Amino acid sequence: MAAAGSFDLACGHDVITTKLTWSKEVSRVVFKRCAGCHHPEGRAFPLLKYEEARPWAKAIQEEVLRRRMPPWNAVKGFGEFKHDLGLSEEEIHLLADWVEGGAPEGDTNLLPAAPKAASLAARKPAGIRVPFFGSLQVKQGMSLAAVEMGSMREGLSFKLVAETTDGTRIPLLWIEGFSAKAAKTYEFAEPVRLPSGTRIQAYPAEGVKLNLIRGSSQPR
Ligand code: HEC
Repeated sequence: MAAAGSFDLACGHDVITTKLTWSKEVSRVVFKRCAGCHHPEGRAFPLLKYEEARPWAKAIQEEVLRRRMPPWNAVKGFGEFKHDLGLSEEEIHLLADWVEGGAPEGDTNLLPAAPKAASLAARKPAGIRVPFFGSLQVKQGMSLAAVEMGSMREGLSFKLVAETTDGTRIPLLWIEGFSAKAAKTYEFAEPVRLPSGTRIQAYPAEGVKLNLIRGSSQPR
């Protein structure tokens, strides 16, 4: 029967309606944007192989469309960071369309080399860690290389601002809905120079626990 036939087609597991493939396009985005946490020794289940990613296809589509993955709690445009994990619109559509089209593997000859374990190890910027609980006055000029999340309540939101003695306000970081799943360290694109007397303040300050990581270069 014609009706039954088309029903089968629409529900079949192997109906591929996209040219996007894991081997060619999707693995490249996943290696770059997801593998940092999703690898065998990582914080989340591995997504380095087609066989690992395929069973998660529907969940991958949902997580990226809702912008829950990669988890990056920092609001864009407030401070500037080195490893912004946020996906571009193109990357979101690429992943979503691949899943929608049946999540095919494609020609494995096109597969890029999987990232090496060393490059996947958590990037920890070097520098002295200064504990921060909501507010702090910088006694001696310092250069702020990164901010590291402490253990905080899930869902906590706050802005971190530096206020210099001449009244300049420097936006550092805006965390919207803290989650322990997300990035732990926010490394600035360029170390932020904070002259003596600068006040670093969290708004609201309640419950904010961080480490400020001082860079080695000293401001003039
Ligand atoms: C900063 C670390 C990090 C990055 C980067 C990251 N994830 Fe995750 N992801 C996690 C953690 C942690 C979990 C929870 C794992 C668990 O519960 O075992 C998770 C869970 C998931 C889940 C399961 C969600 C559910 O519960 O159904 C999916 C799907 C997923 N990630 C996809 C992705 C994709 C796709 C990317 C890249 C575009 C990505 N993740 C990037 C940390 C990350």
